[in-house]
Amino acid sequence: MTNLPNNIDPEKVPAHVAIIMDGNGRWAKARGLDRTEGHVAGVDTVRTIITAASEIGVKYLTLYAFSTENWNRPPEEVRALLHLIVVALERETPDLIKNNVRLNVIGDIDRMPPESYESLRRSLKATSHCTGLQVNLALSYSSRWELVEAARRIASLAASGELDPAEITEQTVSEMLTTASVPDPDLLIRTGGDARVSNFLLWQIAYSELYFTNIFWPAFSADDFFKAVAEYQGRERRFGLTSEQVSQSSESSL
Ligand code: IPE
Ligand code: IPE
Ligand code: MG
Repeated sequence: MTNLPNNIDPEKVPAHVAIIMDGNGRWAKARGLDRTEGHVAGVDTVRTIITAASEIGVKYLTLYAFSTENWNRPPEEVRALLHLIVVALERETPDLIKNNVRLNVIGDIDRMPPESYESLRRSLKATSHCTGLQVNLALSYSSRWELVEAARRIASLAASGELDPAEITEQTVSEMLTTASVPDPDLLIRTGGDARVSNFLLWQIAYSELYFTNIFWPAFSADDFFKAVAEYQGRERRFGLTSEQVSQSSESSL
């Protein structure tokens, strides 16, 4: 790959990066602006980070845009956020196509108002042929919602005799999640200064590397993203093994 930022090792680019895009409201408040202005500015960061992730060869980018719990925010803010999502999808879809980015949505989108739902469907369809970066937009998503849905589906397959409970494996559960066709995140980034996961991908991040930064989402830049990737690349992922085992297996795979 050409022109990679010089702090990025092309051999160790994370295949899947997940991001909790937090801090829009506080970014706006610090500037004396309405919280909604923070969300507007946050859309520009989404665009920047999609480009940055494509540039270094990330295959999947999962963005937490609106959580199940966010439905409980003041109705004006919920309305503004949902409207903003529609506007952003309409505006950005041509560029997504140009950049070969495929959009996918995870979450309880049946809860979305018709305008948002239709606009999402249009963008999904328009980018379905794209083969580059896959962006998974987590909308009306929470991990506990997803796990409850998975439990329901597994229980109903067991009840109808299509699935033997003794045959249920980790893979069975993974395949029932909204991320069924996507590998687990290698790196989870949260902006905005809080060190928590807020009901995001709880099953899938079992062995993800976590990266927290104080930078508010609207101020998060491509360089900040590359810095997070570079830090990830310096970590040793042991998956429960010893450091010696890990270095032996990476030597034998050379
Ligand atoms: C993240 O920013 C965007 C959403 C949760 C939709 P916030 O709106 O949570 O901003 P803060 O955390 O209050 O600053
Ligand atoms: C997490 O941010 C959800 C999104 C970024 C969409 P929140 O602002 O909702 O999380 P909490 O409330 O600080 O845990
Ligand atoms: Mg927040």
